[in-house]
Amino acid sequence: MLRKLIAGNWKMNGLRHSLDQVSSLMQKVGKAPKADILICPPALLLMEMARMTKDSPIMVGGQDCHWKESGAHTGEISAQMLANAGASHVIVGHSERRADCGENSKTVRHKAEAALAAGLIPIICVGETLAQREAGEAASVVRDQVEQSMPTQSKGEIVIAYEPVWAIGTGKVASAADIAEIHALLREQVGPGIRLLYGGSVKPGNAAEILHIENVDGALVGGASLTAEDFFGIIENA
Ligand code: PGA
Repeated sequence: MLRKLIAGNWKMNGLRHSLDQVSSLMQKVGKAPKADILICPPALLLMEMARMTKDSPIMVGGQDCHWKESGAHTGEISAQMLANAGASHVIVGHSERRADCGENSKTVRHKAEAALAAGLIPIICVGETLAQREAGEAASVVRDQVEQSMPTQSKGEIVIAYEPVWAIGTGKVASAADIAEIHALLREQVGPGIRLLYGGSVKPGNAAEILHIENVDGALVGGASLTAEDFFGIIENA
């Protein structure tokens, strides 16, 4: 069994004072937590968070990166910059970026490749919309997204996060049977070594059930990662 990874995605939330939550989380988790722990804060907080957590088991990651190493791309952040700031991971292809910024799986693959080239672990997000699930297309949509978003050549660790779009930030969680079904298909598709996270309204109250489903190797947590108390409540259930 792969060690669980509990990853928090702060999205566009967090000001400098939010780093207090990280100090408090460090106290709660101690030196030997039950799972690997990652927080992906807004880019502006990343360097300070990486400095704070340097001697703790908490890792820090980016929420997105550009596919190029450097150059004339105003407003963008490269994978190399994230690594240089102290990140170990970067989320790519989150459904909010696929929807808000028009990212497709080909873009996501280039970003994942850039992450690997910079020595980062990409967390590649996939997931179907409600309309796709209702049309019975969930499995095929997810399979196609994984196939097209996975780096083709580069070597290095990769994480995949299955996040049904309709479960993100809505309080609706996919049923254990649905999660088990998609994760079994993903396992078959990508093999044994790749961690498969579930994401979408994971909270302290449902984490135990979700994290014990076969082929679920951790969680990608949005809202509940913003406070140390809730995030630790999920980590404890790993
Ligand atoms: P949520 O977000 O936990 O707030 O539903 C999950 C995610 O988007 O990663």
